Amino acid sequence: MDINQLKQKFIEIFGDNGEALRVFSSPGRVNLIGEHTDYNGGYVFPAALTLSSTVVARPRKDRQINLIATDLGIMVSASLDELEKHKDIKWGNYQLGVADELQKAGYKLVGCDMLFHDTVPLGSGLSSSAAIEVVTAITLVTLGNEAHGVNSGIDMVEMAKISQTAEHNYVGVNCGIMDQFASAMGKANHAIFLDCKDLSFEHVPLDLKGYRIVISNTKKKRSLGAVKYNERRSECEAGLEILKKAIPGISCLGEISAEQFEKNKHLITDEVVRKRVEHVIYEDDRVLKSVEALKKGDLHSFGRYMIESHNSLRDLYEVTGLELDTLVEEALKIDGVIGSRMTGAGFGGCTVSIVREDAVDRFIEDVGSAYTQKTGITAEFYVSEVGDGGREIK
Ligand code: GLA
Repeated sequence: MDINQLKQKFIEIFGDNGEALRVFSSPGRVNLIGEHTDYNGGYVFPAALTLSSTVVARPRKDRQINLIATDLGIMVSASLDELEKHKDIKWGNYQLGVADELQKAGYKLVGCDMLFHDTVPLGSGLSSSAAIEVVTAITLVTLGNEAHGVNSGIDMVEMAKISQTAEHNYVGVNCGIMDQFASAMGKANHAIFLDCKDLSFEHVPLDLKGYRIVISNTKKKRSLGAVKYNERRSECEAGLEILKKAIPGISCLGEISAEQFEKNKHLITDEVVRKRVEHVIYEDDRVLKSVEALKKGDLHSFGRYMIESHNSLRDLYEVTGLELDTLVEEALKIDGVIGSRMTGAGFGGCTVSIVREDAVDRFIEDVGSAYTQKTGITAEFYVSEVGDGGREIK
């Protein structure tokens, strides 16, 4: 649906009161490398997609929030004064969670009608939830500021942080900052090199010289994703506690060098915890090397680090599984593929591959059929463009 059709749909649902409709949009993301490093104070290297969550919105005179989506028949309504009451609803808790966290952070909001249109495939590891959270945040803050005569602009990094808090408190996933940051701060044709220790970042041009980013979706239903995600996070914290005693002054795994880890890893006697920490330490290193390689135009090294990253997520972090491993294995058999790895949290979701332009069609055909043969599932493929972060569309 284009913007005009969306506005039309909004009017069909909420009616026309003569007041202008506003449109906001915020993207999903693909992470190129740096997985499960963000909540360890490490580096990540995501890029915003052109798949997005778009909202048509109009402020109301009262404190009521009405939410509906183009692909859902139900309307969720809540008062801005009673948001906590709706914590357990199935659809709408991302949006109401963001509204609640914004108010707790001191933002003055206003009631509004909102129609959502999402093109990021849900639950696919491409941050459909961050896209919804961030677009909700910028919509509510823009309309709230206008209603209350506040002229300050929007602090996009703060929108990302508040969206992350909503995900912790309303969705129950103890996620890092990567997804919300990428959705808020993305830039067309650039990836974001982000240091999650202090949120310093750099937009790095994605000059892929005849290559494309191809995303392959396992279409595997993720079960227990949140539980396993939170479990990995606790394992890293357990490892950190042990290393802290040996390496004074450190506050996160992202501050530990590979040498320091090698010298002290024997102190972590639980093998599972040691493997998790080893992944984080070397994955962090790979991000630095990948960014270096990309800046030098050395795509082949970049691809090699992607493959190493996948292997580490499979063997040390143990978040891949048959579907993701099959997609990567089959991708690497195709002439013209220089790198492939799972992207996002894992346990299903998507892979990201760097594929020579003239090999893209063959990639989709061959990987698709081998995947179906091995898993019985039909994969989906997206040849992705790198888009801008959250914004109002005028
Ligand atoms: C999910 C989380 C992110 C990050 C990735 C793994 O996408 O939301 O914060 O931890 O998993 O890299």
